[in-house]
Amino acid sequence: MPGLNGHQSPAAETLGGSAGSVARRFVDVHCHVLPGVDDGPTDMAASMEMCRALVNDGISTVIATPHQLGRYEGANSPAQVRAAVAELMVEIEKLGLPLTVLPGADVRVHERLVDMIEQDRVTTIADKGKHILLELPHETLIDLTFLNRALMNRGIQGIMTHPERHHALRRKPELLARWIADGMLVQITAGSLIGLFGPNSQNNAWDLIDAGMVHIVATDAHDHEQRPPVFTEAFEVLEEDIGRAMAEQICLVNPLMVLEGEHIPTGRMQRNAATGQVGGFQSRRME
Ligand SMILES: [Fe+2]
Repeated sequence: MPGLNGHQSPAAETLGGSAGSVARRFVDVHCHVLPGVDDGPTDMAASMEMCRALVNDGISTVIATPHQLGRYEGANSPAQVRAAVAELMVEIEKLGLPLTVLPGADVRVHERLVDMIEQDRVTTIADKGKHILLELPHETLIDLTFLNRALMNRGIQGIMTHPERHHALRRKPELLARWIADGMLVQITAGSLIGLFGPNSQNNAWDLIDAGMVHIVATDAHDHEQRPPVFTEAFEVLEEDIGRAMAEQICLVNPLMVLEGEHIPTGRMQRNAATGQVGGFQSRRME
C-alpha cells in the first residue's frame, strides 16, 4: 500500500482485515516504561503492569524513553538505559508477553545536543542515531531553529514531543511551522486527542492535525492507571475524523519508519499526495 507521502507502507502487512477487526500492532516511540528511573513506574512490578496495559492497547513495540538532561542531568545515561531495557525484557520474556522494548529517551533540549549524541551522552530512538525526542522546558519557549538544522546536518531528525501541551509554543505557531519546514517531526500524545490533558491540549492537538503538523502519535504513558496508554482509542477517533489512511500513516507507518531508522520526508503531512495538498483535515472540535 502506498504511503501518503509517497513512500511504501511498511506497516501494511501488519494491518490486514477490515476496519473494526484489525489486529493493530502499534509502535510506541514515546513511553516511560522503565522502573524506578524517572516519573514513570516506581518498580518492576509497576512496569510489568504497564507492559500488560501496552499489550492490551495493541502495542507490540515500545521505545523506552526515560527523561534525560534537564532535571535528570547526570541520570539515565545511555548505558543505564540499555541495561534497564535488557532487565525489563528478561521479565517480559518470563511472562511471555508479546512486547519488545528498545532503548530511547525523552531528551530535554540542550545547546550542545549534537555533541552529546556523538559522545553517547543521550539516547536516540532505538539507538539508531537517526531520530531523537526533543522536549522543551514546560513553560519556556526556546527557538530550536539552529539546533534543528544542526541535527539535520548530522542526519538526525528531531521529534518535537507534545507541542499541543506547551502553551507558550502554541502562541507562536510560526516557530513550529519553521522547524517542520526544516525537517523536524512532531509527535502528539494519544491522550490529548481524547481530552485526557484538558480542553486546551485537546483543541491544540486537533488544530495541529488539521494543519498537517502531526507526523506521529505516541502514548507518553507513565503508568497503567493515571497516565495509561490509550493508543487504540486515539486511533479510532482519528480514523473517524481524518480517515483511515491518514490515521494509519501517523499511528502505524511513521512510527515504524522511525523505529527502523528511516527518515520521514520533510514538511507537513499531505492530505492529498497527488496534488501535494497539505493539512485541511476535517477534524473535531471540542466545546
Ligand atoms: Fe515524556
